[in-house]
Amino acid sequence: QTKSLNVYNIPPMIIEDFPRFKYRGMMLDVSRHFMPVDFVKRYIDIIAMHKMNKFHWHLTDDQGWRIEIKKYPKLTEIGSKRTETLKGHARFAGSNPKFDGIPHEGFYTQDEIKDIVKYADERFVDVIPEIDMPGHTSALIAAYPEFGTSTEKVDVKKIWGVHEEILKPTDDTFKFIEDIVLELKELFPSSYFHVGGDEAKKTQWENSEEIQKLMADLEIEEEDSLQSYFIGRVEKILSENGKKLIGWDEIIEGGLNENAIVMSWRGEEGGIIAAKAGNQAIMSPNSHLYFDYYQAKTGEPIAIGGFTPLDKVYSYEPVPKGLDINEASRIMGAQGNVWTEYIKTPEKVEYMSVPRMTALSEVVWSKRKVRDFSEFKKRLNFYRFFLDKEKVNYRKTDLVK
Ligand code: ACM
Repeated sequence: QTKSLNVYNIPPMIIEDFPRFKYRGMMLDVSRHFMPVDFVKRYIDIIAMHKMNKFHWHLTDDQGWRIEIKKYPKLTEIGSKRTETLKGHARFAGSNPKFDGIPHEGFYTQDEIKDIVKYADERFVDVIPEIDMPGHTSALIAAYPEFGTSTEKVDVKKIWGVHEEILKPTDDTFKFIEDIVLELKELFPSSYFHVGGDEAKKTQWENSEEIQKLMADLEIEEEDSLQSYFIGRVEKILSENGKKLIGWDEIIEGGLNENAIVMSWRGEEGGIIAAKAGNQAIMSPNSHLYFDYYQAKTGEPIAIGGFTPLDKVYSYEPVPKGLDINEASRIMGAQGNVWTEYIKTPEKVEYMSVPRMTALSEVVWSKRKVRDFSEFKKRLNFYRFFLDKEKVNYRKTDLVK
């Protein structure tokens, strides 16, 4: 006891504080690169230390399915494994991409998921699973081709980008999705469930006789409306199971389902349309809150692109201009996204996340809309004490005056 150094005496006081927004989130993509259980817990610790309260867990995508589903074991037996991964940046891969020759795999058992969700709950963090659909489903279709639109053989993808694979919007597929929801609802007590909905290419739907016939039967003219139909069917499954649907802003195209919550990522427009339509929205624009983007113009490790330095994150205002007071009340909050195409390790996840997450934390907590970045940086230098204590691999150059 005599050697305890970091002990401070502070006078007794009562602190009254509450956050401006109820949704203060961080997303982690574990499909592109699998992240071990211990790190997922540590990431939750870092979220909790920033008094954020939502962990959006991107569990499935073209490059890997990462959650055990007991009724459909091939999702992980086949879908959680890729033979190798693209080397370098997809932008420069051209027609002759190079691969690393290293198999990549991993998934979370349902016991591990329960353990992580409990860990998060003890830290007041709500875990929201994302099962991306109807696009970003190559890993699913590699495991269960019968739910894909095309009859061509599909492998778990080893290259980044937007792929052609898309689920077939038939009753068998919705039954499959319902089975997954039934398992997931036992694992995730959250009232929210994210269904993706982003970047679904409709070419396979356009080219499929079966789908065109289905559209005619349903009296649906546009493929975008078929995606709305798809999301509507899934929303019904979710609401029957007590869950609220969140989707990326593409779910607006072709008609927005009245109960859906829109996660606005292609700028703020999706959030604005949703709030004006009476829907709730979460702001996660790639202009300010994509933490897989570059943090400086030079000297940074490879990233997907973009430019989201700390001051830009700190300057973000989650309620878009032009909303009236009722519409503004539908903005639930904001979220930072960490996609991991170019982030292979937990250390790099931390490097990309912090201190941008620290800036976002203040954005979603503080009522102050005029923010002084240099003043924030001074306080950030004190916060460093806590980051160092937890050995967070934050971006050190952001903390030098
Ligand atoms: C996304 O970045 N595709 C949501």
